[in-house]
Amino acid sequence: MPSPPAPPAMRCLFFFLLAAPLASAWRPWPPRNGSSNAASGIGVSKKFEGSSDFVKLEYHMGPVLAADITVHPIWYGAWPATQKRTIRAFLRSLSPEAQSAAAIPSPSVAAWWRTVRLYADQTDANVSAVVNLGQEKSDTRMSRGASLTRLDIQRVIHDAVTARTKPLPVDSSGGLYLVLTSPEVHVETFCGQVCGFHYFTFPSIVGYTLPYAWVGNSAARCPEICAYPFAIPSYVANGRKPEMAPNGDVGVDGMVSVIAHELAEAASNPLANAWYAGGDPSFPTEIADLCEGIYGTGGGGAYTGQLLTDGRSGAAYNVNGVRGRRFLVQWVWDPYRSYCSGPNALDHQ
Ligand SMILES: *[C@@H]1O[C@H](CO)[C@@H](O)[C@H](O)[C@H]1NC(C)=O
Ligand SMILES: *[C@@H]1O[C@H](CO)[C@@H](O)[C@H](O)[C@H]1NC(C)=O
Repeated sequence: MPSPPAPPAMRCLFFFLLAAPLASAWRPWPPRNGSSNAASGIGVSKKFEGSSDFVKLEYHMGPVLAADITVHPIWYGAWPATQKRTIRAFLRSLSPEAQSAAAIPSPSVAAWWRTVRLYADQTDANVSAVVNLGQEKSDTRMSRGASLTRLDIQRVIHDAVTARTKPLPVDSSGGLYLVLTSPEVHVETFCGQVCGFHYFTFPSIVGYTLPYAWVGNSAARCPEICAYPFAIPSYVANGRKPEMAPNGDVGVDGMVSVIAHELAEAASNPLANAWYAGGDPSFPTEIADLCEGIYGTGGGGAYTGQLLTDGRSGAAYNVNGVRGRRFLVQWVWDPYRSYCSGPNALDHQ
């Protein structure tokens, strides 16, 4: 069932936000007392509307992830096998092998990634079409504690690449390290405005400069912020029901869209010197920030845009993946159309 169109009041809000300075439009549902400073920094999820009018995305001469990308998940905290399977299935769906790709109906996760591949660097090298699931590491005992700073995320990566048994490979060609924290783990600024971020590691902590991202499971802390639209804050709901999660797990299904967000940005701006808008590289607006909260045609403001409905479960989704999996992922900015785009768009297929 597609989301109902936004009521008139919400549409007014939408146009008001469009007219407001970009920096004041945040998450789809910011906490009422949220301050913009809480979200400052690179790669944090922050919301802008999907309009071209105020957007000046620029290329800053740095590289994109043009070599085959290998994502190395690091499972921090308690991760049930079913949750890992869902996230792995999403990662495997980004560039599935030809055989399984043929069986995936449109719109697909791989077609969603095609928009990210439109970004190239000064050597005319595009973001790679290939995204592989690499080796994984688990830290179930939470060796850096249950409350992590941003720099602690790098320490978790350090531990994974220097582990005595089965360390993760140091992969400076296309490696992307993805730290995933379980619901009991707090991370600096998590839930205030931030659901995930990406950056690159420092040689002083990890020994190498490697692109990485962190995404937290918000199920226990702030699903209405980070697992929207599978949860909706009471103060904006106005009777609106949350969408049903396509893999039956609000926290993890919410993470999938944030993971997609961070992968798109890490691929197009891995060293914070390639594709972003805004004059301040320590506070950039990147290709997924521009489309946060937009999952389908007409999306913006309080409206997700037109979604697809799983006939059996009634869950909302917008892309198909391997083995019959379905996911809901936000759109990303298309540099040629100059608006947010995704494979489930009704106006271009
Ligand atoms: C918002 O208010 C709540 C409750 O008063 C508080 O726990 C939370 O830390 C505040 N958030 C921010 C970002 O200030
Ligand atoms: C690669 O990037 C260029 C420049 O943005 C674009 O014109 C081209 O369509 C991209 N190629 C693919 C396969 O996306």
